[in-house]
Formats: sequence, C-alpha cells, structure tokens
Amino acid sequence: MQDTGRRAFVKIAFLVGAVLSIIPFVPWGTYLSSTIKTGSAQRTLAQKVVVDDIPSKYGAAAGKVVNVNDLSTFPPNDHWVVTYPTSGDLTVDAENPDTFQKFELIRLPTTLGGDSKKATDFVAYSKVCVHLWCSPNYNPAPGHMQYECPCHGSIYQLPKEDSSGQLVDAGKAVAGPASFQAFPQNAIPMLTLQADANGDLWIFYFNADWAKTTVSSGKANIVSVDPIEGDGTIGYGRDYASYQNFIRPAAQAPLNADEESVPVS
Ligand code: FES
Repeated sequence: MQDTGRRAFVKIAFLVGAVLSIIPFVPWGTYLSSTIKTGSAQRTLAQKVVVDDIPSKYGAAAGKVVNVNDLSTFPPNDHWVVTYPTSGDLTVDAENPDTFQKFELIRLPTTLGGDSKKATDFVAYSKVCVHLWCSPNYNPAPGHMQYECPCHGSIYQLPKEDSSGQLVDAGKAVAGPASFQAFPQNAIPMLTLQADANGDLWIFYFNADWAKTTVSSGKANIVSVDPIEGDGTIGYGRDYASYQNFIRPAAQAPLNADEESVPVS
C-alpha cells in the first residue's frame, strides 16, 4: 500500500517536472499578444510616455509626461514604470495589476549618454521576464546597472557600446536561464520610443514601421514589420540586434501626433 502511494507520488512529480521543463520553450507570444490584440477596433498607435501616478514610488515624476529635456525629474540611471497601452485614465493605469501592460522606463546612466536629452537616453523594457514571467527590476547600483529578475537570476543588459561607439544589444539576456533560451526568447521585449520637437517622449505601436508609414485622409497607412523585429511583442522576446531601428531619432515629430488613435485593419 505504501509502495503504491510512493509510486503514484513519483509519477505525479515526474509529470509536473516534465511540464515545467518545457515551459521556457513554449512560444508564449503566440498566445499572449492577444492581450492587446482583442477588444476595441481602435488601437493606440502613438502614446505619450506617462509615469504611473504613484507618488509614494515615483515622487515628482508620478503621473508626469516624460520629457527628455527634464533631467531633474527624470535623471540618468533612474527608472519608473509606465503602462502601455494606456486606458487613458491615470488612476486606472496606476492600479492596473497586469504586468503584461507594464514597462520599466530606464534612463541610461550618463556613461551611456543618458543625459544627452534624446529619446536614445531611454529604454522601455517589459516587466515580464521571458523565462517564467516574474517581474524584473532595474538595479542602478554601481556594478549592476542592469535589469535583474528576482526569481531565477536572469539579467538583461542595457545597450552596450560597440567598437564603433554604437549602442547595441539592448535587452539581451546575459545571465540566468533566459540567456540559455533560443532566439527570440533570450531578450526582453522593448517598446519603440521617440521624442517630439518639444522633447516629450512617445511610445509607438510596435509592429509598425513609422519611417515608411504615411498618413492620408486622417488615417495612418501602416507598414507592418515582422512581429519580432517590431519589438515589444508582449510576453515574447525580440531581436536585440535591431535595437537601433526602434529608437527613433530625437525631435522627429510623430507622423500623426494630433491623432493618437486611428482605426487599424
Ligand atoms: S522568471 Fe526565471 S529568471 Fe525571471
């Protein structure tokens, strides 16, 4: 009787172990991107970057539109959480517990040009680790300055300077289980950022190539790109080699800044 019970326990433990072992290899993005693909036919294509309105956490930055010129409210080597896509209501966004709609906005340290007053001063990393979905946090301490997952130690790096001075490989997992996963699940999803002529920071709808998008009759004519290249695919990784493509040049006004939400087919 005791042996029967032990055998049953071993069987169950084996099954649970088998399921857990394949979790990192399931293409979660296939399922999770529906988080924002369903619902209203209107999608937010361009959204100003607003820090979650939680004064106890974010002080003077809480509820503020991020402006690349404001180095005192948004200093280098600091971090905040933003909600994307926004509900349009600061209180609702701040209370939204869905980490798949949360991104860590990090202003790079000055050593990486975080005080240059450009969109490239910032990165926006998903709050969902591509390993088993815990929420990583930016660690600004000397010797760290990286995005660290508290669960199993995955570490995602800030963009690094290559030999030609270009910042590359933003969000690449460099330690922990996420770093052993196959592309594209070896990098944290990122949002595409752009500053307008006033310095306000914008998030652009991922999977759209705004360099090629045109506006006619008040509608955006969107040019889609590969969902992985398009970055920010919720719950999925990205091609970190394409980092430069997804940080738009500073002071390049959004194509349809007056029309934040347009129909999407
Ligand atoms: S969930 Fe495992 S390292 Fe992040």
